[in-house]
Amino acid sequence: MKFFIDTANLAQIKEANDLGILDGVTTNPSLMAKEGIQGSEAVMAHYKTICELVDGDISAEVISTDFAGIVKEGKALAAIHPNIVVKVPMIKDGVKALKWFTDNGIKTNCTLVFSAGQAILAAKAGATYVSPFIGRIDDSSWDGIELISQIAHIYGTQGFKSEILAASIRNALHIVKCAEAGADVCTCPLDSILGLLKHPLTDIGLAKFLEDAKKFA
Ligand code: E4P
Repeated sequence: MKFFIDTANLAQIKEANDLGILDGVTTNPSLMAKEGIQGSEAVMAHYKTICELVDGDISAEVISTDFAGIVKEGKALAAIHPNIVVKVPMIKDGVKALKWFTDNGIKTNCTLVFSAGQAILAAKAGATYVSPFIGRIDDSSWDGIELISQIAHIYGTQGFKSEILAASIRNALHIVKCAEAGADVCTCPLDSILGLLKHPLTDIGLAKFLEDAKKFA
């Protein structure tokens, strides 16, 4: 399973990249706004900076909702760097645009996926990545991990090539469950990635080893 970091914060991107386990980055307009990145020129410059920091797929989201606008914006985003993946919402014109990008060799990430039906449509349109939002599904009292399993089963059975990119990750357990359920990629906040490190028995065991090591120093 690939690890992406889900942020536009450059310090956090660097920290995750320095761990040596980072395969890419996802962003969205809310994450950009959180970092105070405003205006299309600043947004484009920020994507370029991220591409220079991380050698992997970098999702850049369109904000148009009509076919012509999505294609125009997506082409401009894809021109920033070969690693840019155009992030397109799961709407009717978005599906049409996904197919256009597929036919024109531009990588895509279909975002805001909340059902198996939407995942089938995105895969039919040739999306490189399909992003089910598991945390937001859990928030609405449904089972986000179950959706990952269902999509993995459908894609396996039908031979769809799209990669399942589990998004809206809330904690380290989500990452483990996504790996079990067959996600190809998990995009996670830094805290959730670092949460994978934690186990009290590791801390207790290390403290004892270091204490005992002093006896032989
Ligand atoms: C990633 O591509 C999504 O934009 C992101 O994971 C959404 O996460 P959230 O539900 O925490 O906003």
